[in-house]
Amino acid sequence: MPIEFIRDDITRLHVDAIVNAANSTLLGGGGVDGAIHAAAGPKLLEECRKLGGCETGEAKATKGYKLHCKYVIHTVGPVWTGGKRGEKALLESCYKNSLLLAKSLGCETVAFPLISSGVYGYPKEEALSVAVDTVKSFLDVCDMTVYIVIFDKASFRIGEKLVRDIKEYIDDRYADEHFNARAEHMRPFKANRHDFADYAAPKEVKAAPPPSFASLKDAVSQLDESFSEMLLRKIDEEGMTDVECYKKANIDRKLFSKIRSDRLYKPSKQTAIAFAIALRLSLDETKELLMKAGFALSHSSRFDIIIEYFIVHGNYNIFEINEALFEFDQCLLGA
Ligand code: APR
Repeated sequence: MPIEFIRDDITRLHVDAIVNAANSTLLGGGGVDGAIHAAAGPKLLEECRKLGGCETGEAKATKGYKLHCKYVIHTVGPVWTGGKRGEKALLESCYKNSLLLAKSLGCETVAFPLISSGVYGYPKEEALSVAVDTVKSFLDVCDMTVYIVIFDKASFRIGEKLVRDIKEYIDDRYADEHFNARAEHMRPFKANRHDFADYAAPKEVKAAPPPSFASLKDAVSQLDESFSEMLLRKIDEEGMTDVECYKKANIDRKLFSKIRSDRLYKPSKQTAIAFAIALRLSLDETKELLMKAGFALSHSSRFDIIIEYFIVHGNYNIFEINEALFEFDQCLLGA
């Protein structure tokens, strides 16, 4: 997954480089800057002193010292003053220059905090969309895995109405599913309470007639369309290229070529859902694609119900879906 969202402390990540939201002196501070310096140890500050500071939007690298990364890339985000003094362009430069520097250092994995969205006051939703848009355009031309580290829930803030709608959608389905499952589960206990009045003994279930295949070999030879075949068919039907599809699904090239070259390849449920979202499949088509990978959308899973909500409402924006999943403490798509 080229862009991954994770909720963690960036100083704990085992990646090639972590990015620090520093200030122009590069001599440390609070927030993520303070956390990185504290975790890296005093040698980081010693090296920073030799860098002679850093301009807003620029990026400079040091070693990682006690951190689990080879490099720390220090960049200085803009202070938010209302958005009319080039803050967006400066924030984009932070991501671009940090990624170019990481590439020049041979990094394959890089983790970013949400630059400027703390002390510097950049509104978190805008800071997130600048981060995602800039990273995505870089990844259109360069192979790297980029982690966007969400440290606090406020970074992902979706509208109250959307939260209410999704909550209702979940309650309608999640409760039913659990009620039915619970009722099924209670049935044997009802009988044990010597309350046989309404406990009907299970009716004689007739065994289904054996499959009409002459032999197992026939059965195996008559496989339906596989996941991979349906995926490639839908890519053609949607008039997309393979690259457009897997980039939109936030799936890396290597995984896609595995799926493409093995007609019986079984992806993870998350990967199958990511492709369904990228292809803007209807709910039935999504269920069909998932079934071909051996999965189903279940109403006993909040994650699945939220995915279903967005598909039923025709909203295939993977980042809005992730914001909702994050709001409901669910694993994120592409995470
Ligand atoms: N891991 C990941 N993200 C973190 C961590 C952490 N350990 N600590 C804070 N964050 C997040 C914040 O929640 C925020 O979303 O990093 C984002 C950036 O917040 P700040 O660290 O306040 O950075 P910024 O807004 O760019 O302000 C930079 O603050 O710390 C000083 O010296 C720094 O003067 C500079 C200014």
